[in-house]
Amino acid sequence: MSQHRQPPTDPRRHMPATLRNREAILAVLKEVLPQQGVLLEIASGSGEHAAFMAPQLAPLIWQPSDFDPDNLPSIDAHAGDAAVANIRPALRLDVTRRPWPVADGVAALLCCNMIHIAPWAAAEGLFAGAAACMAKGAPLLLYGPFRRHGEHTAPSNAAFDDSLKARDARWGVRCLDTDVVPLAIRNGFALDRIVDMPANNLTVIFRRA
Ligand SMILES: C[S@@+](CC[C@H](N)C(=O)[O-])C[C@H]1O[C@@H](n2cnc3c(N)ncnc32)[C@H](O)[C@@H]1O
Repeated sequence: MSQHRQPPTDPRRHMPATLRNREAILAVLKEVLPQQGVLLEIASGSGEHAAFMAPQLAPLIWQPSDFDPDNLPSIDAHAGDAAVANIRPALRLDVTRRPWPVADGVAALLCCNMIHIAPWAAAEGLFAGAAACMAKGAPLLLYGPFRRHGEHTAPSNAAFDDSLKARDARWGVRCLDTDVVPLAIRNGFALDRIVDMPANNLTVIFRRA
């Protein structure tokens, strides 16, 4: 009897923006990150950032995560392609659900492009969860578009904000000065540095106080 097997489905997802922004983000990480310890990546998405960046940051250990279980096989598959020892299996982690399934003493946290593509509760959960697991002085890096002092920094970001809100009224480009920094401070983080990035994005570095 002949068997008709389905070809295995490739779990790898592709987010084209990661190819455009990964070099610039990595350059900031190389300046800011400690050389060892665990970096917790929140909202890893496809896992392409982890697979590209972690090999260049060893011996730092990269812990990817996402709340969407469908992303986890993609993250692990890209990590498998990278064939390095410093990427851990992806964790299912929803920032709004605490306690997070991570050990204390996280040496750094990276979260790219999440807080505007999620309800504000995700930003609140991010800082509260990070405060509970990060080591003192450890850097927390946010990458993405932000408003400054209530205003968009570019027409393209204003249009993006409109498109986000059309998809989900709870989403939107957050204001760094009036919303994100005060939230960080309330959770015991201090603003360390703001780095201008290509395409009107920012990397914002906080430190666990
Ligand atoms: C636009 S993608 C960004 C993915 C990746 N960081 C990047 O820059 O390509 C947004 C990600 O946020 C994740 N996300 C949304 N809400 C979340 C939550 N509450 N906890 C953790 N991840 C969440 C989604 O599953 C998705 O992978």
